[in-house]
Formats: sequence, structure tokens, C-alpha cells
Amino acid sequence: MADRTLDVICICGSLRKGSYNRMVMNALPGLAPAGMSPMEAPPFSEFPLYNADVQETSGFPPAVLKLADAVRAADGVIFNSPEYNFSIPGGLKNAIDWVSRVPNQPFAGKPVALQSAANGALGGGRMQYDLRRAMIFLDALTLNKPEIFIGNCSTRIDAKTGEITDQQTVGFIRQQLAAFAKFVVQHGPRS
Ligand SMILES: Cc1cc2nc3c(=O)[nH]c(=O)nc-3n(C[C@H](O)[C@H](O)[C@H](O)COP(=O)(O)O)c2cc1C
Repeated sequence: MADRTLDVICICGSLRKGSYNRMVMNALPGLAPAGMSPMEAPPFSEFPLYNADVQETSGFPPAVLKLADAVRAADGVIFNSPEYNFSIPGGLKNAIDWVSRVPNQPFAGKPVALQSAANGALGGGRMQYDLRRAMIFLDALTLNKPEIFIGNCSTRIDAKTGEITDQQTVGFIRQQLAAFAKFVVQHGPRS
């Protein structure tokens, strides 16, 4: 483990208040190993649709720079995202597209872990492979295993309390976070 706390930011791909993925994200501090501190990333909900003309005429919106800075400053990034139509939710993809155009591209060399909760049986697996592909283009270092796919999520997470009630899922998340902490240290946390 590193000789200081690993700061990991979590980007939630769902904007809705009652998001299961947000509930998973909120549970992470309680499931992370000692020495890892997961916290929510600055929001992307106000990002305009990516348009290179806007970038060239007005520059990057402040909210984009804020998220880009947070990604750059973090030791690692965890995505907590649903799957929309077998792929990455549009809002999240738009956020990644904006951040990817910021100079000194923030995802380059950044340790990344993926988690998804979805109502389908595959738990967002198809979204994860698309997100993995985007991260390859950006030269991020995405953790291979353990993978977290929370299928039929409404049966594993209590929508009222936000608690992950399925203990097998809790165990898998703990294992992934422990592996991610080692992965971050191995691949070089920010100095
Ligand atoms: C536009 C849209 C597309 C969806 N597509 C999928 C899908 O491809 N696979 C799937 O398992 N669930 C799909 N769902 C259902 C989501 O898994 C479910 O709404 C889930 O709760 C969304 O995550 P959230 O609770 O974090 O917002 C879709 C939902 C929406 C709104």
C-alpha cells in the first residue's frame, strides 16, 4: 500500500436522483480497503453537448476543466455507470469526450476501474466493454479483474435505503477495490 491515502474519484454515469449506480458509488467508502478514499467527482450534468466549434470559440467550459483537473489530480478513477441501449449513457460519453480534449489529456496513464449496475441480467457488461474501449484510446490503465456487473440490480440494492443487500455483491466490490488499490500502487499513483 502507498504511504499515504489513495484519492480515488468516482464518476457516476446516471444523473437521476434514485440511481442504483449512485447508491453503489455512495457505498464505496465503507467497502474500500484502509488507505483508499473514494469520493464523488465534480459533476458533468451541466456540460454542453460536445462541439469543437464551442471549444475553439469559447474555450473549455469551467465545469469541464474542473472535472479534468479532478481526474488529473486523482490517484485513480472509478466509473459507476448504468448501461443505456447496450452502451455508454450519452451524458457520460459526452463528459468523457469533453475531458479528452483538454490539454495534457487527464486519463492518460490513469488507473481506472469499472463498476456497473443495471436492471438487465448482464449488469451493464456491454456498456463496460465500450467504456473499456474508450479508455484504451485515452491510454488509461483499466483494471482487468475482478469485474463488477450488478445484474437485476433492483433485487440486490434497496431502493429506499440505498443499501446493497446482496452480500455476494458486497464481497465482489470489496475484492475489486482491494485489487484496485494494489493496481494503483503498482502503476504509480500521482506523486
Ligand atoms: C435510456 C435507457 C436505456 C436502457 N438500456 C438498458 C440496457 O441496455 N441494458 C440494461 O441492462 N438496462 C437498460 N436500461 C435500464 C437500466 O438498467 C435501469 O434503468 C437502471 O436502473 C439505470 O441505472 P440507474 O439506476 O443508476 O439510473 C435502460 C434504461 C434507460 C433509461
